[in-house]
Amino acid sequence: ERIEWSAEETGKGRFEHYMLKEIHTQPEALRGTLSGRIDDGAVDLETFSEGSFEDVEQVHLVACGTSYHAALCGERQLVRAGIPATTSRASEYFDLQTVDENTLVVAVTQSGETADTLSALRRASSAGARTLALTNVVGSTVSREADDVLYIRAGPEIGVAATKTFTSQVATLTMLTHRIAQDSARGTPREDAAAFFRELDALPERIEDLIDATTAQRVSEQHIGRQSYFFIGRDFEYPVALEGALKFKEITYEHAEGFASGELKHGPLALVTSDTTLFALLTGARGDETRRNAEEARTRGATVVAIAPEGMAVGDVADEVLRVPDTHPDLAGLLANVQLQLISYHTAYGLGREIDKPRNLAKSVTVE
Ligand code: G6P
Repeated sequence: ERIEWSAEETGKGRFEHYMLKEIHTQPEALRGTLSGRIDDGAVDLETFSEGSFEDVEQVHLVACGTSYHAALCGERQLVRAGIPATTSRASEYFDLQTVDENTLVVAVTQSGETADTLSALRRASSAGARTLALTNVVGSTVSREADDVLYIRAGPEIGVAATKTFTSQVATLTMLTHRIAQDSARGTPREDAAAFFRELDALPERIEDLIDATTAQRVSEQHIGRQSYFFIGRDFEYPVALEGALKFKEITYEHAEGFASGELKHGPLALVTSDTTLFALLTGARGDETRRNAEEARTRGATVVAIAPEGMAVGDVADEVLRVPDTHPDLAGLLANVQLQLISYHTAYGLGREIDKPRNLAKSVTVE
């Protein structure tokens, strides 16, 4: 596969930081991801050298950082399509007793060079698994070592904090899920596939609809200097909450945690004070349940920022709201995530952080 990255793609253009550019160019990154792979609601992924996925009985996803959160979204899609799937942090992938030739191990890695992920892939190969790399970088180590490669085609990402590649990874994983579910005897492709993939195809426009809103900037400025920032979500929004918190800590250096909404009452609620800002993801099929959890935190003094679909009344539960255009419930988390990217960016900006190169972090970590 040939993917050329032009000078225009690798410059900052009109943006002050690569991260802001990469947030804003998600529509075109996503168009690159989807291009030629969806046709009128049907998925048409390229062929794989190892052939169809008919023998696949289980999928293991391995990844680090932001890619791990994308993999968690993929896991949910796969399980719902009847394919047993689990996600491991690559550095924690060592119990391979159930791995055999009917196991597909998917290494999700933007750079294709992350040492922990490569090492997990090698362990999987030695255990006899079929391997697939899901990466952005053509010719990367992972693309050479895995049995097959599926490129996310998001274009170059320069900012250390991953943004557009998360969106493209999740989109690619939904298409891959559909393909595996079609091929494998265990799988059942989603009943609403045509409607779902039509919405996926329209997602770049939905991102365009929200990207210029200035609410995230205003909210960020108002919340600078708080003691802790919590992010909660359920179902597909749970990995988005984890990703929102990771992005926030990476570039603002403030204390941020992501929780499964339902877990708040099993511990984290003890941390909530009037100096806590809680971002509550109310999008998706289980947004109403998260709403109740947000209320519990608000009662304990937290300031609640809701990320909610257009038209959802949130006045009784939230102090502020960031809106997300209507889409398929299983895709709304990706739009909510864009709002959280903007929150992290504007908070880090307000604090004068070095956004594209946060302290102590590297774009790709090549040591285990
Ligand atoms: C580093 C980067 C993260 C990234 C992670 C995994 O920690 O700072 O932004 O998510 O590596 O990178 P990969 O290239 O494997 O997706």
